[in-house]
Amino acid sequence: MAVVTTSKHNDIAIVCVKNPPVNALSHAVRSELYSACENMDGDNTVKAVVLICDGRTFIAGADIREFNQAPQEPHLPDVINRIEAATKPWIAAVHGTALGGGCEVALGCHYRVAISSAKFGLPEVHLGLIPGAGGTVRLPRLIGTESAIAMVTSGKPISAQEALEKGLVDAVAPDENLETFAVEFATSKMTASLPVAISKRPVADAPDDAKAQETLDGVSAKARGQMSPVEAAGSVIDAGKLDATEAFAAERERFVRLKESEQSAALRHVFFAERQTAKIAELKDVKPKEIEECGIVGGGTMGAGIAAAALLAGFQITMLERDTEAAEAGAQRVRKILDGSLSRGLISSQQRAAIGQAFATSIDYTALARCDLVIEAVFEDMAVKKLVFKKLCEVCRPDAILATNTSYLNVNEIAASAKNPERVLGLHFFSPAHIMKLLEIVKTDTVSDEVLATGFALAKKLRKVPVLSGVCDGFIGNRILANYRKQCDYMLEEGASPQDIDTAMRNFGMAMGPFEMQDMAGLDIGWANRKRLAPTRDPKERYVKIADRICELGRFGQKTGAGWYQYPEGSRKGIPDPVVEDIIKQEREAAGIVTRSFTMAEIQSRILQAMVSEGQQILNEGIARSAADIDMVFILGYGFPRWRGGPMFAGGVRD
Ligand code: 3HC
Ligand code: NAI
Repeated sequence: MAVVTTSKHNDIAIVCVKNPPVNALSHAVRSELYSACENMDGDNTVKAVVLICDGRTFIAGADIREFNQAPQEPHLPDVINRIEAATKPWIAAVHGTALGGGCEVALGCHYRVAISSAKFGLPEVHLGLIPGAGGTVRLPRLIGTESAIAMVTSGKPISAQEALEKGLVDAVAPDENLETFAVEFATSKMTASLPVAISKRPVADAPDDAKAQETLDGVSAKARGQMSPVEAAGSVIDAGKLDATEAFAAERERFVRLKESEQSAALRHVFFAERQTAKIAELKDVKPKEIEECGIVGGGTMGAGIAAAALLAGFQITMLERDTEAAEAGAQRVRKILDGSLSRGLISSQQRAAIGQAFATSIDYTALARCDLVIEAVFEDMAVKKLVFKKLCEVCRPDAILATNTSYLNVNEIAASAKNPERVLGLHFFSPAHIMKLLEIVKTDTVSDEVLATGFALAKKLRKVPVLSGVCDGFIGNRILANYRKQCDYMLEEGASPQDIDTAMRNFGMAMGPFEMQDMAGLDIGWANRKRLAPTRDPKERYVKIADRICELGRFGQKTGAGWYQYPEGSRKGIPDPVVEDIIKQEREAAGIVTRSFTMAEIQSRILQAMVSEGQQILNEGIARSAADIDMVFILGYGFPRWRGGPMFAGGVRD
């Protein structure tokens, strides 16, 4: 079956790419596009060519699946150069997303038109790459160095309107009728002489060496260890210094080198892992339930965040609290998040008003009687949660889904306390719940497939990445985190300081160090959990008391002005605290430990090993489906550097 077809509309040829699902530039597409170009040049009846795509999008890039195979001719740069060298105007007609190699194909054309919903982007950095088919050479020649660097280093697509303003696009269609618009545009250009090829144009604003270095330093600081944004900026800067032929060669060298790098392998792994988490074979043919009205019990940090996330996704929400004061405080938290979305332009004022209408609070359980789903987010206490579930069973419809957002508690036990346990599951959100992309879906022993499938459908509506977890203490993420923290505490006792460990892990690429993170999230939940586990803890297990002693002083982190660090006058930047240093010193002495110093590499490797060995255990027990799922949990829920592929990938464990 041909993946590139040609039809005629008077003097205009329409070359159409049809390679579902996203028209990726597979070997077949490249070959047939190249042939189409030769044919169009040889066909005297054709005066101009419209390049358009079938299906949901314009070409979304190179075929990532082919990156692990030996490259086959024709290579993409040759195809694009061939289009640019065509003797008749080629007009790229863009809908959906012209990404990566797709955007580069459009840049090889003589003109670009689009519908207003179309987007243009060079997201190669997210795969540990740079544009490898002329993108970094042509883009600055078309829209200037600064805009080109912003696009290639962020990987963020821009809208058709923005593309028009920057000169990336020549015209935006007034409606969705792209083909008609593109044919008219082509007709208007078919007798004009061809514009100067983009690659032959100068870079108008090529930076001098000092400015170039300043730009590279800025990109490098932001990239925190990831190579591709720095290489992408470097390639755009090269393009301003070199002629196009040299610049193409320099770009290709960087692209090929990065394609072979461990970082790119890791990011490609993440690209596919992120799309695999929701593909659960057993649920393939299970129809999820319809969810419209949701209840949230508890309007604290998590309840409010979950309510806001669900409201922004279009659900009706009733939030239940203990008393009117707590209900009002919860409502305030929700409003603050929604107002933030409005001020950041994520929603319009009409949407804000409509969302306000869809939100209610109550202190009366009967307000939840009509809900299709209720998510409990009350205190982390089994007795309190069981009481809430008992009340929910009394008032809710027997088929309403009941979910708990517990961090550590046994969801099987919570389910067993409910009347119809097949409708109970864990939906473990991450804080802040309206931002964090991860949702652990906790499968109890009794939950029905329909309810589980509904959890996955809900995640999709909330634009979260769902990861299936079995029941265990802390599920996938918090269980591994507990082991990770244990290792940190051991190292504290053995001679490292909180700053040593935080610095090492930030340098590893984590968004925050483990102690800074605890101070931000609050030390109290972990403390309560350690107290809960104390009676069943193996007395032979090494236990470090430093964290408990810090909590005993009422130091719960940023919210109390002190934790592992002190935070004078509400500052968010912690400074080392002699009180903590003293406690550490005393505990080292009490444990009779001869301290030693740690290198950064040693700290990083010990923490990674702790994560990998717990991850392996979780796999052996069947708590996680795959190592890739564990990787996604840590990347999306705990700030593990994406470019390392997740802890399992970084530790060499592959599915
Ligand atoms: N190559 C191969 N497969 C791809 C692909 C690509 N470039 N892009 C998407 N797919 C696959 C996905 O894996 C998925 O497969 P599955 O159904 O088997 O899981 C399917 O297409 C649909 O993808 P999504 O689920 O992501 O669909 P969405 O509609 O949500 O998103 C999209 C569409 C915005 C195009 C998104 O898929 C995307 O961002 N794709 C990657 C784009 C990209 O990174 N392009 C640059 C590639 S590198 C390059 O071009 C190098 C060049 O400079 C030389
Ligand atoms: P929180 O203390 O901020 O909020 C709890 C809320 O529940 C309070 O507003 C309280 O008034 C309300 N509440 C307590 N008992 C109630 C009852 N019987 N009926 C109605 N409302 C009641 O706690 P937070 O942090 O929001 O945690 C809630 C749950 O989410 C816990 O199970 C916690 O383990 C879990 N969780 C917390 C995360 C976090 O980072 N804070 C992350 C993921 C899960």
